[in-house]
Amino acid sequence: METVQTQATIAALLQETRRFPPPPEFTARANVQDPGVYEEAERDFEGFWARHAESELEWFRKWDRVLEWDVPWAKWFVGGQTNVCYNCVDRHVKGRRRTKAALVWEGEPGDSRVLTYLDLHREVQRFANALKQLGVQKGDRVTIYMGMVPELPIAMLACARIGAPHSVVFGGFSADALAGRIQDAQAKVLVTQDGAWRRGQVVPLKHFADQALESCPSVEKVVVLRRAGNEVAMKPGRDEWWHELEAGAPATCPAEPLDSEHPLYILYTSGTTGKPKGVLHTTAGYLLGVHMTTKWVFDLKDEDVYWCTADIGWVTGHSYIVYGPLSNGATSVMYEGAPDWPDKDRYWRIVEKYRVNVLYTSPTFIRTAMKWGPEYPRRCDLSSLRLLGTVGEPINPEAWMWYHENIGGGRCPIVDTWWQTETGMILITPLPGITTTKPGSATLPFPGIAADIVDEQGNSLPPNTGGYLVLTRPWPAMLRTFWGDPERYVQVYWSRFPGKYFTGDGARRDEDGYFWIQGRVDDVVNVAGHRLSNIEIESTLVAHPAVAEAATIGRSHPEKGQAVSAFVVLRAGYAPSEQLKHELREWVAQKISPIARPDDVFFCADLPKTRSAKIMRRLLRDIAEGRALGDTTTLTDPAVVEQIKQRYVEEGKEEA
Ligand code: PRX
Repeated sequence: METVQTQATIAALLQETRRFPPPPEFTARANVQDPGVYEEAERDFEGFWARHAESELEWFRKWDRVLEWDVPWAKWFVGGQTNVCYNCVDRHVKGRRRTKAALVWEGEPGDSRVLTYLDLHREVQRFANALKQLGVQKGDRVTIYMGMVPELPIAMLACARIGAPHSVVFGGFSADALAGRIQDAQAKVLVTQDGAWRRGQVVPLKHFADQALESCPSVEKVVVLRRAGNEVAMKPGRDEWWHELEAGAPATCPAEPLDSEHPLYILYTSGTTGKPKGVLHTTAGYLLGVHMTTKWVFDLKDEDVYWCTADIGWVTGHSYIVYGPLSNGATSVMYEGAPDWPDKDRYWRIVEKYRVNVLYTSPTFIRTAMKWGPEYPRRCDLSSLRLLGTVGEPINPEAWMWYHENIGGGRCPIVDTWWQTETGMILITPLPGITTTKPGSATLPFPGIAADIVDEQGNSLPPNTGGYLVLTRPWPAMLRTFWGDPERYVQVYWSRFPGKYFTGDGARRDEDGYFWIQGRVDDVVNVAGHRLSNIEIESTLVAHPAVAEAATIGRSHPEKGQAVSAFVVLRAGYAPSEQLKHELREWVAQKISPIARPDDVFFCADLPKTRSAKIMRRLLRDIAEGRALGDTTTLTDPAVVEQIKQRYVEEGKEEA
């Protein structure tokens, strides 16, 4: 665990004085206009959530108790019964939204599809029946390994409909990563597709799935969607085509009434050890959390076209492409491919084509678009936009301003939303009709949420002092546990500061109570908003025959936020070479994901370690960032780090 940055560093970090009050015309139409919501929620947070659960969601049975909180075990809306799919689809089909576009999908090659709520209802029911015919029962896990196609949310909703928790694995993950996640969840069925489009190429998902399944005996059936048309091997008795299954499935499948705490999904995320953690989200509280935040943070109106550019393989897509928007009866845009295909204006073309009103994207994308230059957005008509959002990493004020001016035309409020896979819902965020924003700050906790900044001992810190970000009260969409590993859940989040949820982030709060997130203080790297674990990448490197030891760090990167740097000690008999560097980078890309590929590999004779043999990544980060070395007194051999530093600088000079 890194130590918190000192007060002086923090104070020097940001001196942002620009203020952006909400435009009065925005406030006049905003879903939330009364700042009194904060106080109201603060007076009785359970009552606040209960009131909205009652008025915003449909229930099969009302709850007996709003919250049972036996630290750190939360149960929300105990005794109640509902169904997430019912709330996202069926209730809209009953009324005026039945022919409204639910999903507007843009394929990378330029094809597109619009599914109304009625279409979605039909498709989801058929696929739910198809799953049942494959033997999926309430409680069984279904792993979904797909690209960004409409059938992905259809499969998720079908699972939610019958109470089979889904585990969506990002289509950019390797066969090994997929296998580990299937094994951990003990999934019975895998849903995948022949191939996914990415930058004009076909990513052979079914082929990777076949590799993964060699070590996944729990999987009995595989459903394969035809999308890219590439050739695939179909294993008789195990593999079924989506279209054939659907054609043979009955048309109606009622939504199952499920207990509030019934598992909705598992989503694997990187932690500080090599083994990914299966974050478990449940039914009613999660639905309420994503419903309310979508409505209030994105200020969605019935006539809005809303687009979140994330991939559904990550939590942002789960909560803010699928469940939050659909629960609100919104029109949610989905794009299949890369932002620079066929050209760097693709996102802006999509905004123009569908007249997108609310756009939610990542700081990494904004920085990349900045690098590409304003000529790309200028080619398109972006006048439909009225609200912009960001998520995934801290946004630097410069990128915030660029987004504001070049994309928002100076008129759109920006919501910088802080949250995590574990939190399920946005927790620190502006409410666009009432919050004056400051570029670079996620501003204030959502009504009903309690956050604090604490020191090593868990004491609350005064303004403008850097510390650890903690949450001091349960919230409806919080993770309930790790799938199959409750001890680890307690240990990771609740043991460091008893009674408080430890986020893993460092932050400070300013004199107005605004939160400024500084990034991870644990061994997690955040590359382009994607969370990776140093230890996972290190273990992968060490699995290569040439590598004896490895340490990886997240180094600042102008677009991606952070990039992975690897420090590698070779085994006897192997010599450093450019070829080997390349091989190691590709090894990691192949074993984990191209996202995890180290930007650079540095060979060294030894790694800086403490007497308890812990690698001091902090010092390696100091070297990589060109900073003065921090405290080296706890090292077994301080000379090691000096040698690395010297050689690193020399090598950097040679390359320059
Ligand atoms: O470090 C914070 C950063 O992303 C982490 C959560 O990563 P993940 O679970 O993959 O979820 C990403 C999408 C919700 C956080 O611990 N993070 C997320 N949003 C922000 C952020 N850092 C600063 N500002 C944000 N708005």
